[in-house]
Amino acid sequence: MQTADRPGLSDLTNLVSISATTAARNPQAVYGALRERWGFVAPVELEPGIHAWLVLGHQEICQVVRNEQLFSRDPNNWRLYAEGVVAPDSGLGPMMFPRDNAYFSDGDRHRRLRAPIDESLAGLDEHRMARFIRATCTDLIRRFGDQGTADLVSDYAAVVPMLTVAGLFGIDRDQGEQLRQGLIALFSSAAESQEPAQMVERILTNAMASRRAAPGDDLTTAFLRHANLRDDAEIQQSIVLMISAGYETTTSWIAQTLRLMLADARFAGRLRGGRLGLDDALDEVLWLDPPMSNMPARYALVDCTIGGMPVKRGDALILGLSAANNDPRVHTDDSWLEVGNRSHLAWSAGPHACPAQRAGRMITRIAVDTALHQLHDVELAIPAEEIVLLPSPWTRCPASLPVRFTPSGPVDQQTVRRAFR
Ligand code: HEM
Repeated sequence: MQTADRPGLSDLTNLVSISATTAARNPQAVYGALRERWGFVAPVELEPGIHAWLVLGHQEICQVVRNEQLFSRDPNNWRLYAEGVVAPDSGLGPMMFPRDNAYFSDGDRHRRLRAPIDESLAGLDEHRMARFIRATCTDLIRRFGDQGTADLVSDYAAVVPMLTVAGLFGIDRDQGEQLRQGLIALFSSAAESQEPAQMVERILTNAMASRRAAPGDDLTTAFLRHANLRDDAEIQQSIVLMISAGYETTTSWIAQTLRLMLADARFAGRLRGGRLGLDDALDEVLWLDPPMSNMPARYALVDCTIGGMPVKRGDALILGLSAANNDPRVHTDDSWLEVGNRSHLAWSAGPHACPAQRAGRMITRIAVDTALHQLHDVELAIPAEEIVLLPSPWTRCPASLPVRFTPSGPVDQQTVRRAFR
């Protein structure tokens, strides 16, 4: 059949649900079956009746994300959204409905809103940041360290990213904790939710007012000073974007690394045996189980063919980052050649590629390192097969990681206070 004669996305039936890839014990088997059936671009169902293309190939993803003229980041170009086919309270909303920020913008507007993010991150004092992250991790461990048990997701991996990124904006831990609750409530439903929205707005307005009165060495001050951000609304949207974009991704990276180290004897043995450094271990997670398994989305601006599939104007394309990292065309049989190779797509590529790769790595590296050093004799409290994942079409984050360890004695408060300086 000629490509042009093939049925369009909406005419296809019996499609695999995208959640089948993230929920599977072996997601690569599901991606492999899709590749076998369709090639490197496969139709999938996001929700009943809502179809999209899942791009499974490394080179096909690069082709999509590096071509802004053909593939937009703005969901207003998504036909099913524009025509009101996607329900306003759809679970897809938090990741796929438009918001006024760099993430959902194209071209000049994207470059204008992205510059303050890139420049403020480049200006961070990384030594100070590393001390702050370590102190935050140490303080969290102190809260459960004398109990001998913990859930390393809810007590740790899900808390470290929000507190540390909020800290970069000069927002203290209590406010950071409230912000975390507010943003979770805000993003857990697409429907407008008044109370959390007001709480988030109040915390950010206060942070901005206090930095206006007394500028500091933080990202809020950098955003207030940046000429590209035209008003308070744009500054607020940029802060919310940074904090929310850094949350689920970093939580998932920390949790996946800890899970592998606690559950996979081969992985833990290689790390402890010194044959694999912590950075190599982190890279291995980025390759094998990247924090965003499937990343929404790009929207075709013209009819075109990609991976041999007839993509129509207005179709959504999901970036299958995990599938692309395991694309057989980008691997060799020699595992030694793979060490140090960072050509994975965990950060995506092109103009929207994650701007916080150094910051994200630093947070994750320090969080994993601190947990492993401070929790003595730590081990999983349940069999590894019983670890369940949070349901999501996008990520494969463990819902919890119950562990036991030798309880620490009471931690000297002064040590924690000194660490925060
Ligand atoms: C540590 C694990 C992280 C991973 C794996 C990750 C991954 C990604 C990916 C895949 C994208 C989307 C790129 C695209 O659509 O093509 C992205 C975008 C973004 N990330 Fe990250 N991220 C991480 C941490 C962070 C952190 C800590 C921050 C903030 C401090 C952050 C801020 C952002 C922002 C602002 C964007 C939007 C950029 C744009 O649209 O121009 N990320 N990230």
